[in-house]
Amino acid sequence: MEELQKELAQLYAQVRQYDYEYHVLDNPSVSDAVYDSIVRRILAIEKAHPDWVADDSPSRRVGAAPLSSFATVRHQVSMLSLNNGFQEEDILAFDKRVSDGLRKQDVITSADEIEYEAELKFDGLAVNLRYEHGLLVQASTRGDGVVGEDITQNIKTIKNVPLRLHGEAWPAVLEVRGEVLIYKKDFLALNQRQEQQGQKVFVNARNAAAGSLRQLDSNITKQRPLKFHCYGWGQIEVWPHDMPSTQEGMLEQFVAWGLFVAKQRTVTQGAKGLLAFYHEIEQARRDLPFDIDGVVYKVNRLDWQQLLGYVARAPRFALAHKFPAEEAQTKLLDIEIQVGRTGALTPVARLQPVFVGGVTISNATLHNEDEIRRKDVRIGDTVIVRRAGDVIPEVVEPILVMRPDDAKEFTMVEHCPVCDSAIERLPGEAVWRCTGGLFCSAQRVQSLIHAASRKALDIEGLGEKVATALVQNEMVHSVADLYDLRLEQITSLERMGPQSAQNLLDAIERSKQSDLAHLIFALGIRHVGETSARDLALAFGNLEHLMQASTEQLQALNDVGPVMAESIRHFFAEAHNRKVIDKLRAAGLDPQQTSPKQQTVAAIADKTFVLTGTLAHWSRDVAAQYIQEAGGKVTGSVSKNTDYVVAGEKAGSKLDKAEQLGIEVIDEATLRQMLGMPQEAED
Ligand code: IVH
Repeated sequence: MEELQKELAQLYAQVRQYDYEYHVLDNPSVSDAVYDSIVRRILAIEKAHPDWVADDSPSRRVGAAPLSSFATVRHQVSMLSLNNGFQEEDILAFDKRVSDGLRKQDVITSADEIEYEAELKFDGLAVNLRYEHGLLVQASTRGDGVVGEDITQNIKTIKNVPLRLHGEAWPAVLEVRGEVLIYKKDFLALNQRQEQQGQKVFVNARNAAAGSLRQLDSNITKQRPLKFHCYGWGQIEVWPHDMPSTQEGMLEQFVAWGLFVAKQRTVTQGAKGLLAFYHEIEQARRDLPFDIDGVVYKVNRLDWQQLLGYVARAPRFALAHKFPAEEAQTKLLDIEIQVGRTGALTPVARLQPVFVGGVTISNATLHNEDEIRRKDVRIGDTVIVRRAGDVIPEVVEPILVMRPDDAKEFTMVEHCPVCDSAIERLPGEAVWRCTGGLFCSAQRVQSLIHAASRKALDIEGLGEKVATALVQNEMVHSVADLYDLRLEQITSLERMGPQSAQNLLDAIERSKQSDLAHLIFALGIRHVGETSARDLALAFGNLEHLMQASTEQLQALNDVGPVMAESIRHFFAEAHNRKVIDKLRAAGLDPQQTSPKQQTVAAIADKTFVLTGTLAHWSRDVAAQYIQEAGGKVTGSVSKNTDYVVAGEKAGSKLDKAEQLGIEVIDEATLRQMLGMPQEAED
């Protein structure tokens, strides 16, 4: 009997160690299967001996009986809020307030820069976790900062919250504070599940986290993918050894105790360091796995935090530097139809100008007719608009309770609003298109803007206004006409001074140096994006070869499917497009692809490769690019002309075919060897 009890204790310790490795170190040492089998063994022993169940047993994470209401919890140390800053001046002012404050206390001189700890501002719900002698005994919401709700059962279901602290020598009472959130990927999956089950779909991850945390039935909470991110503390009684002297030191101690602290944080000096961190995070934001609404700066030294103290309900030693709000509400004045480069008719919302995502917007996309119906957006509505990062602002939804009686439903146009040509909507497509092609001046203007854009020919100064003027004055019909433009023609345009005109001419002249990939992209062939243009350039080497490529040759390229191949063929089959290309070439735009990396490798040159399965280190596209750069060919199907089949994981029928035809099958490592590249370390 004692043996079994000992085993149980050992299993608990093992699970704690694995939890720590998994949730804190992000470096598990065992597979999920091993972990699960240990938990199963624990459950089996506990079932036979219910009186042995420990407070930190993983079985305690299983939801408890539903509550009828939450008990209230009075916080031992109030949960305060943060002062906000939005602009650079606010951050400079904060740093100055801190310096002035500390100077008055005689702890620094005016020359000293303040050291800060800077971290993320998580967009979730603040909670307080109370550990006594290392055991999680209570968890509560922030509430009004003084009194919150007891959500212990719910918090216990969160896997990255340790039920018992890792390590040792914890204070008898340790309150840990942080934010509960749902990761972006988990949020999407959750909403999908909710929808499938006919349940409520959440507006955003924060609302989903809030709804999950405030469930009276913790069995529901348990099914929600909640995560805890630690950023601070409340009551601490008594620190058993030397307490860290800095904010960062405290966070590191928390990590050692098994609490999750996001690694995107830094220790930096002065306002300049803070702003650098802000800009770095602003860039990284989109790729973070969770939502944040800004960053938080805290004076790093804890004794200085104490000296600075609090004002009203916020610390003087900290500041939240928030990103501009990404959603705002405004009035939808009208819906107009914009004609795009490929003739797509896009309904565009004309809005009462509103400041959102850091800029003032007065237009937003409504995507297409079906979207307008689905969202039930009407002219005259007050709507929520959203602008996140670089994406085009969009109308999210109308606020129905604010709908005026005379709100007007949208009706789609029957002809192109610019050239009056017929419009069509192909089966399976959501968009209507103008059939006018280059007869439609809107399409000409948009094609020109596209051709001049940075990722294409990069002609500075040729934006919407100039492009419109050039098309409207019949100076330019296609991109090729740009190269005939004379200075006096350009200066004759409205608001075009001699200097800007000369600059534009110079930019046009410079664009003759464009490489093939940029030129192909500039042509605006439907479905050919920047990446495909690069692949095509690499594969065909010049315009002539591309124009002559058969559908089969095109499709042999990785990632060129039937639709893109057909679109390319169709483009070059049109007489007017061929004319444009002839004219471009005559003007001196006929680049030959010579990538700087290009270097023929004897083992590869003139050999034909087929790639199949999942490669360990490269995508098939990248592998194909290397082969092509080394002078080899890559095709899509195995035939007797194939020299090598490069097979990765889960290679399918192509591998079978290669074996049938007796074609040499190689792995990625061999390919790297042939390319003369260093071998990857085994992982
Ligand atoms: S520190 C005394 N750090 O923002 C300062 N708060 O407006 C206590 N929040 O209620 C807060 N990320 O829920 C701090 N890294 C972070 C945070 C953070 C999000 C939330 C927190 C608090 C609110 C303050």
